[in-house]
Amino acid sequence: MPGYQRMLFVCLNDRGDEHPRGSCARAGGDEVLDRLRAGIHDRGLKGVVRAVGTRCLGQCAHGPVVACQPEEVWYGKVQAEHVDQLIDGHVLGGEVVEELELSEDELLFVPREERALPPIRRRAPGDDSSPQGAEGA
Ligand code: FES
Repeated sequence: MPGYQRMLFVCLNDRGDEHPRGSCARAGGDEVLDRLRAGIHDRGLKGVVRAVGTRCLGQCAHGPVVACQPEEVWYGKVQAEHVDQLIDGHVLGGEVVEELELSEDELLFVPREERALPPIRRRAPGDDSSPQGAEGA
């Protein structure tokens, strides 16, 4: 299946200096993304791994936040000096960088057991049925 093998989403949301919730851009998110991109380039991983900047990922208290897909690992309080660890440990080494990982207790999500969504599927040619759960939406 075509696609990047790993994607790293770096929150770059900026609420300014005075906002009580803070924001990842004010905590160093831009420098983290720049260093990730440079590290990916330097290791010849272009087209294999992609680091992208995003708006708020909903984990503001832990910024800068890096969300790694498809493995669903979240890192918090990431600084530029952690980037080599993330690339060499997580991306290339295939191991979670535990000292930066956000635990399930720290993450603000609705548990999957409480709100399970269906898996994504492709429709067969000629299948005109409505997507599951889309009726009346
Ligand atoms: S501002 Fe970065 S997760 Fe919300």
